[in-house]
Amino acid sequence: MTRIPLHPFLVHFPIAFFFLELVCLVFWARKKDAAYERFARFAFTAGFLFLIAAMAVGWIDAGGFGAMGGSARRHFYGACSVFIFYALRAVHLKTRRAVDGQGPKVFRIAGAAMGNLLIFLTAYWGGILVYA
Ligand code: HEM
Repeated sequence: MTRIPLHPFLVHFPIAFFFLELVCLVFWARKKDAAYERFARFAFTAGFLFLIAAMAVGWIDAGGFGAMGGSARRHFYGACSVFIFYALRAVHLKTRRAVDGQGPKVFRIAGAAMGNLLIFLTAYWGGILVYA
């Protein structure tokens, strides 16, 4: 029986939530309404949880590191960079909350934009695995 790949079901959640976080942070900077910052934190948390789930099923679909060819390994390294980058951002958000709860808006937006760039590259390499 052919196994249905699970990864494609889940990958769009971290992609969408982390993009939503960036949009909320831009609105926070422009409208100066803290509600956008709170929603950005919600989008960040949801994105991070779905990122872990998407990586877990991606690993299953790929059959583990040994079974990955060149393109899959490039995609995997991209995914690892996304995970490390967002894990560092998670630590920063947690400690910032502990210190003063706001933090420089520009720094947060730059971090979210960089993260989206890493995700874009990773997703592009993922698409090559399916469509090329
Ligand atoms: C442990 C990390 C990951 C592994 C091993 C992995 C592996 C794979 C594999 C094997 C595919 C081909 C389709 C399949 O058989 O499921 C794929 C597709 C894809 N992956 Fe990943 N992936 C990982 C993480 C990620 C992450 C973090 C993202 C984005 C945030 C992502 C985005 C995509 C996309 C967009 C596709 C194309 C799906 C489609 O359009 O059908 N992957 N990945």
